Amino acid sequence: MPFTPRVFSGIKPSGDLHLGNYLGAIRRFVPLQDTHQTIYCVVDMHAITVWQEPEDLRRWTYEIAAAYIAAGLDPKRSIIFNQSQVVEHAELSWIFNCVARMGWMARMTQFKDKAGENSEQVSLGLFAYPSLMAADILLYKSTGVPVGDDQRQHLELTRDIAKKFNHDFRKQIRDLGFEEDYFPITETLSTGPAMRVMSLRDGKKKMSKSDASDMSTIYMMDDADAISKKIKKATTDPEGLPTEAAGLENRPEAANLVAIYAALADKSVDAVLAEFGGHGWGKFKPALADLAVTVLSPVANEMKRLVGDRGEMDRILRDGAERARAIAVPHMEEIRNIVGFVR
Ligand code: TYM
Repeated sequence: MPFTPRVFSGIKPSGDLHLGNYLGAIRRFVPLQDTHQTIYCVVDMHAITVWQEPEDLRRWTYEIAAAYIAAGLDPKRSIIFNQSQVVEHAELSWIFNCVARMGWMARMTQFKDKAGENSEQVSLGLFAYPSLMAADILLYKSTGVPVGDDQRQHLELTRDIAKKFNHDFRKQIRDLGFEEDYFPITETLSTGPAMRVMSLRDGKKKMSKSDASDMSTIYMMDDADAISKKIKKATTDPEGLPTEAAGLENRPEAANLVAIYAALADKSVDAVLAEFGGHGWGKFKPALADLAVTVLSPVANEMKRLVGDRGEMDRILRDGAERARAIAVPHMEEIRNIVGFVR
């Protein structure tokens, strides 16, 4: 039996949401509602792999759920919830901890970046992070995961875990009546101009929730003045805009601003260069600032309204968790059975 077309994605409540999260992830979640069953999670259990002040964790959890809705997700069509409300995520991640190998985890570049020289001192959870991520995705037998480029390696590992589980338990999976694999081999959905939005100050650094420089990052809650100021002060090079995409090679700051424009305008990089090629930054930056304000301000306003209504947000998250459980619980029953747990 083919797998139901189902999309899962998640965002960590570990800092203020920024333009990279919006263009690389949230904005792309919306049209998938027309073609897939869609599940969008606030992954609070992932957030605590590094220390989070409990009050900040709670505030960011509401902020991300609000951003999902403000960006156009319909909580009736999509399942929107926070991970810790569906305990099956934790249960499946334990089983995956026993499927995945230490070496697989040790190769993860995000772990190496975060642990740095200090790998003896980071939490055990940070090491096992990708196993919980695989559990998020596979608990729902998700067939596609929209993410930015930085998550590609984690999704390869998710596929490795699915393959090893399908292989190790082949007999039990057959005995349960499945002709083929139990878990799908999930596809990474990562295409478009802004899969890796870079810092506005350094085109070689990814825009991230944890950047110390405020001017490098456009936050979803920034007001129009802050957005305009950050774009106008963004680092560029002395050349103007090229007429073709090849002219952006080895010019990371220029390439980044053009990619941001393309993603915000829903155009290709070529179409943006057809309009602005040959002009200087003095013309392009104000146009980009206007576009960014036009697109982002309504989202920020709606986010502010929603985070102010915790009763409504709690209701949406509880309802989402209930609908998520309706899929997760029967799957988890089967998985326990496959593994050989007595119930
Ligand atoms: P997180 O919270 O770091 O980021 C959330 C989403 O935003 C994307 N993103 C970016 N895209 C483009 N440019 C950037 N500068 C940029 N920064 C972040 C990320 O690629 C991501 O899509 N491990 C995940 C959360 C997670 C998850 C999952 C995702 C947990 N379980 C299951 C998908 C499926 C993370 O830390 O994302």
